[in-house]
Order: sequence, then C-alpha cells, then structure tokens
Amino acid sequence: MCGIIGILGNHEAAPILVEALKRLEYRGYDSSGIATVESEGSIDRRRAVGKLVELQDKLVFQPLKGKVGIGHTRWATHGEPNEENAHPHNSGAVSVVHNGIIENFLELRHELRCDGYKPETDTDTETIAMLCSKFIDEGHEPIDAARKTLLKLSGSFAIAMLFAGHENLMIAARSGSPLAVGYGKNEMYLGSDALALLPMTKKITYLEEGDLAILAREGVDIYDHLGNLVSRPIKYLNQSTNFYDKSGFNHFMEKEIYEQPVALETAIKSYICDKNVGAKINLLKELNFKEIPKIILIACGTAYYACYVAKYWIEKLAKIPVEIDIGSEFRYREPPIEKGTAAIFVSQSGETADTLAALRYCVGKAKIIISIVNVSTSSIARESDQVLEIHAGPEIGVASTKAFTCQLAVLFLMTLKAAQDRSEISEINIAKTVSDLKSLPSTLNQYLGSTNSIQDIAYKLSTASDVLFLGRGLMYPVALEGALKLKEISYIHSEGYAAGELKHGPIALIDDSVPVIILAPCDELFEKNISNMHEVIARKANVTLISDKEGLQSAGSIVKNTIEMPRTNKLLTPLVYALPIQLLAYFSAVSKGTDVDQPRNLAKSVTVE
Ligand code: G6P
Repeated sequence: MCGIIGILGNHEAAPILVEALKRLEYRGYDSSGIATVESEGSIDRRRAVGKLVELQDKLVFQPLKGKVGIGHTRWATHGEPNEENAHPHNSGAVSVVHNGIIENFLELRHELRCDGYKPETDTDTETIAMLCSKFIDEGHEPIDAARKTLLKLSGSFAIAMLFAGHENLMIAARSGSPLAVGYGKNEMYLGSDALALLPMTKKITYLEEGDLAILAREGVDIYDHLGNLVSRPIKYLNQSTNFYDKSGFNHFMEKEIYEQPVALETAIKSYICDKNVGAKINLLKELNFKEIPKIILIACGTAYYACYVAKYWIEKLAKIPVEIDIGSEFRYREPPIEKGTAAIFVSQSGETADTLAALRYCVGKAKIIISIVNVSTSSIARESDQVLEIHAGPEIGVASTKAFTCQLAVLFLMTLKAAQDRSEISEINIAKTVSDLKSLPSTLNQYLGSTNSIQDIAYKLSTASDVLFLGRGLMYPVALEGALKLKEISYIHSEGYAAGELKHGPIALIDDSVPVIILAPCDELFEKNISNMHEVIARKANVTLISDKEGLQSAGSIVKNTIEMPRTNKLLTPLVYALPIQLLAYFSAVSKGTDVDQPRNLAKSVTVE
C-alpha cells in the first residue's frame, strides 16, 4: 500500500510528481503529498486529504518550486488520513516518504522524545525523518545518517528521502516493500512500481531486499544489506503507457470486465502450442507432476478464490491432494510442508505482503515454488522457481476482474498438464477440453454484448442491505467471489455460501429483504441447487437464478429474476459465471454512486500485513 515516487530532474518536479502519483493511486488514495528541495536549498511540501485532485488543486494556488522531489499517495496505517499525517514527513533537514510499517516506531519515538525530538503526527513514518535528522544534528552527513537510521528500523519499508541543501541527492531503501529505480538523460527516478515511471523511462533497476540506493542525476549507487556496492541488472520495459486510458468506458472496472475475452485469449494462447495434432500445453516443462504428492495453493482476496476453484479442478482431474489457504493464515500457522510438495502462489500484483511472506516460508521446504502473477517483474515472481504469467494486462480497478479469469485459465491449463503427466486424462480428452477452452473468449464476447437484464437486477440489488450468494462444487468459490465483489465496490453486506450449508445457519437470515443469488449451471448438482432455491423462496427470499437455458427452463416460473448463461464445458463454468457476478457488483455500485475504481478503505496492492 502507499505509492512512492521520486525525481531528480532538470524540470520543475511538482507537475511530473503529481502525474506519476496518478499512476500509483491504486496503492492508496486517502491523502497525498509532495516535497521538493527548492533552489535556495530549503525543503518545502504540499499535502492534501482525499484523492490526488485535491493536491493538484492546492498546487494551483500554492505552487511548489524545485527540480528534485518526492511524492506519496497514502493508504493510512498509523493515524487517520488527515493533512498532518500525510506524507512527506519532515524533520529538520530531512523529508521522507514511506510505504510499509515501522514496527518499532513507538520505542524509537520514546527514545527520540528523551533526546528532545517531539513528534507532530501519529505516523510511524515521521520517526524515520526524526531519527535521520537527529543523526544529522549529531554531525553525520546525509548518507551516513540515512544508513544509521535504517539500522534502527524494524518492519517493512520502502523509503525515499530528500535533504535540505542537497539538490542532487535522493536516498532510497527497500526492505519488504518494492522500489524501482529509473534512468533518464541526466535525470533519475524512483517509483513503487516501474509502470509509474513508464512515461519518463523504460530503463529500470529493481531494488532487492535490504538495498540502499544513493541517487544523483548522473546515476545510482546501490549497496546491499551488508553495505557492499553491488550492480543490479537493468531491465528494459516494453509496455506502452496507454492502459491508463478508459477507452470510452465509464470506469476502469467496466473496461476490464469487457476486456476479458481478449485477455483470456492472450493468456490461453501463450500456453498452448497449436502446431501438433491435438494440444500441447506449454508450461512447467521441466516439472513432472507424477513426482508431486501434494500441491499447496496460497493467495489473498480474489486470487484466493481462483485457488479455491483450482483445488476442485486439480483434485478431480489430476488426482493430487490440494491444500489451499489465505496468505495471512498460512504464514503464521507453521504448517508442515510434505516432502515433494509444489507450493503455488497466485497474485495479480505479485506484491501482496502476506502471499510473499507465505512464499518465503516455503522456500527450502517445498520441492518447487511456482508463482502465477500478472506482473512478471514483481517480488513474488522474482522469488519463485517458476513463473506463470497470466497476461491479463495492467488491471487498474481495485476490484479484480480480468485477473481472476486469467488466473483461472492458467490454473486450468496447469491442471490439464498435471493430469496429463499423471496419465489421468486421455490425449483425446485433453484436445477436446483445450478446444473448449479456446472457444471461451468468443463465447464470453457474445455474452458481454447483451447485459441489459443484469443491469435491471443489479439496480434492484443496490437497495438491499444484505445479499447471499449460493453455489455448489465449482460454483461455490465463484459465489464467494461474487459476495466479495459486491461488498468491495457497492458496500452492500454480502456472503458467499456453499448451498449445502444453507440449513446450517444462513437460512435463518432469509426473509423478503434478503436477495439470494444462486449460481447453478445445469450439471449433476443442479437439482440439489434447485431444492435449496425452493427452500429460500418458501421463506420469501427474492431469488436470482444464474443458469443456462436448460437450467432456467427446468427451474420454471417460480423464480422471478433469471440470468441466462451460455452453455459450456462443465469444467469451465467458473470462467463464464465470473462475468455476471462482476457485472452485478459493477452495476449495483454504479446505481449506488460509489467510487467504483477506488472504493473506500481498499487498495489494489496490499504491501502491508
Ligand atoms: C487487494 C485487492 C484485491 C486482490 C487482493 C490480492 O485486496 O483489492 O482485488 O484480489 O488484494 O491481490 P493480489 O495482487 O495478490 O492478487
């Protein structure tokens, strides 16, 4: 969480900093700020509560001069999101922006107080500025003071620092939170992610854990955690910058929902080799799943529900036992890792702190660490033995949509490869299933052409206070994802339940004020779902049944709201039924007038625990 930007440039930094912060707003957006070293050497800053436009407005009336600057967009951890707590935090000659959490800040604050330094904010970050300023007051040069400061910090952080009187110096450090250094023409940049730097440069170095970087316009010196000068690889990004354009859609989330057919096609094509007769799945070539006795799948949020779907697939098709967990639980429960286990981590951003910590727990214990990510340069990708990219393209809306379906596509292909390795599936069956998968993008494209009925249902849904999503088998995790989507962006309390659990609690909630969404493709579990549907209708619930033509026909006219889905291979229904639940959430949020792309209290990349 929190986005950091830094520029050592040859032009006025403030407008460039604000533009770059816009590309980092997905990391947090409750307040923002920038600081620069002005030409006479003093540090000045502007901060504002709320979205970046507030800071932009402020800068019109109170411009900030200077060609070196740092900026920050905040997701509050310590102290409420007010102007005082917004970054950059200044103390003496030092200005700091920070992403992460300084866990020992109370202790440090106490020491600083005893030394006569008085904090002015509720933040942990201010402690960094105060400590560094104290070392400078004691006679240390900025670089030395920064080193001494870092040694005293525990927790996770990415930091950028400016110093009064130093117009050609910026110090950055990474320990737990990502940072990228960008190279320009006699200019240098710093960013929480490389994409934020894209319009300025495509030449990037990712800092590694424990790195300290000393930037000047002429270049950067990077020191590792032992203090050795190191050379980190330079990468050239080949992405374009126009993904920050909504392309005529009202929201990024809407655009990303509609991008799914193309994103899926790219994801699928990148792992299928068409040259041979039949289908050749081109992933994890060096891994033979015959040797894998167990798989663990770890993720957070939407990615976790993708893992949940994959558990059903892998156990059914490849017959490998699968354990799934959310990163924050897995990392602390100290689970034994059976010899030979494949540990798989799924993350859109590749930076989620809990998923990354879970991955690190498995290093040296699991046989292989595999990550399934959207950002191939992310920390999770870089710390894995094998990386499977989902190729969804940048996802800007905080609520994940196209990343979910692309994660599912890659997990499904991995399942087929595992089943193939273990001879649990015939070549004919593989070829048929892959061909069904390949036809999905066009099916989804057609489906997205007619979503009017969903809009009507969503508008009704938007007036509810509680909503229940029910599903069985593969539809159970999709129901969980449906409930998550709805609560994330429309702030309606919603829960996903296995339909079989209805009688063990949730049915007590049912009355005519609780809409129930039932996900039930016409498969072997359909009749059981319909029984559950009758049970809630008997208690006056307002039911929406999402099923295919056959399913809706056999459900009859007792159900008032229906969403008709195209019929597909039964195994692939999660990729299809993901769409109506995303659209229901989207249109409900639009109807309520919430901030769809940047919902309150959330952030796209959760880099703190
Ligand atoms: C946040 C986002 C979710 C996302 C989750 C995991 O909560 O708002 O959309 O599913 O993080 O993120 P990851 O990048 O690891 O997939």
